[in-house]
Amino acid sequence: MSSSRAMPAAASTTLEFRDVVKEYRTGVETVRAVNDVSLQIDPGELVALFGPSGSGKSTLLMIAAAVLAPDSGGVYVNGRDVTGLSSREAAAYRMRELGFISQAIDLLEGANAVTNAALKLYGLGMRVGPANRRVAKMLEAVGLGERLKHRPHEMSMGERQRVMIVRALSTEPRVVLADEPTGALDSERTSEVLELLRTVTTERQIATLLVTHDPQAAAYVDRLYTLRDGALAPGAQQPIPVPTAP
Ligand SMILES: Nc1ncnc2c1ncn2[C@@H]1O[C@H](COP(=O)(O)OP(=O)(O)O)[C@@H](O)[C@H]1O
Ligand SMILES: [Mg+2]
Repeated sequence: MSSSRAMPAAASTTLEFRDVVKEYRTGVETVRAVNDVSLQIDPGELVALFGPSGSGKSTLLMIAAAVLAPDSGGVYVNGRDVTGLSSREAAAYRMRELGFISQAIDLLEGANAVTNAALKLYGLGMRVGPANRRVAKMLEAVGLGERLKHRPHEMSMGERQRVMIVRALSTEPRVVLADEPTGALDSERTSEVLELLRTVTTERQIATLLVTHDPQAAAYVDRLYTLRDGALAPGAQQPIPVPTAP
C-alpha cells in the first residue's frame, strides 16, 4: 500500500482466478474443494456463481478474500496475486480493497444502524460526520431510511443483513465478494440488494462475484457459472429453481 489516504481511489478492477486448487485434509480423507478454477472478471462485471451445497463456493470466495491460501494457483487483483500476501498485507487488502458480504450478521448490539454500517469507515480513519452521512445515504438506498437510529434488536433479520451489506460497500471496495447475501431476504429486498450490487459494480467499474441460489440474480448479472465438486462450468447447469408461491 503506497498511499496513506483513508479511502482507496475509485478504479477499474480485473479479478482473475488462475488454476486455483484447494484441498482439505481431515484425518484420512482429502476433499478437493476447489478443482483447478480459472475465471476472469473484467471491470464493471457482475458474475454469479451457482452450485449445490458443498461444491466449494465459499472456499473459493475465502481464497479470493485472502483468508485461505490455495494449494496452488493464484487470485489476481489488477495483476497482483492476493494469495501470496503477508498477513499484514492481507489485512490491508481486506480493509481497503475488498467488500466481503456473507450471511453472518456481526453488529454491535448497543449501536444504531448508522454506527454499525460506518464501522469500517471509522476503522479506515474517516471522521464520524462524513462517515455517517455516507452510510445514511446508502442505508436509504436499500430501504432503511426509517431505520437509521434503530439498534439491531429493533430490526428484522433482513434489515440487519442490509446494514451488513452497506458496511461492506461503504469503503468503495474494488472487489466485491458476496456469499449468498440475499438468503435471508424476501423477494422485494432481494431485488434491492441485487440492484445495488449491479449499480455499484457498473458505476465504479469494479469486479463482483456473487454466490447465490436466487433465480432473480440471473437478470442482474453479466455471466453465470456453476461450481460442481469444485470445478467451474459456464452457465447455470442446475436448473434455476422457480420461486414457489407463498
Ligand atoms: N474447514 C474445512 N475442513 C474440512 N473440509 C471442509 C472445510 N470447509 C469446507 N470443507 C469441505 O469442502 C467442500 C466445499 O465446502 P464449501 O466451500 O463450504 O462449499 P459451499 O460453499 O459450496 O457449500 C465441502 O465438501 C466441505 O465439506
Ligand atoms: Mg457456502
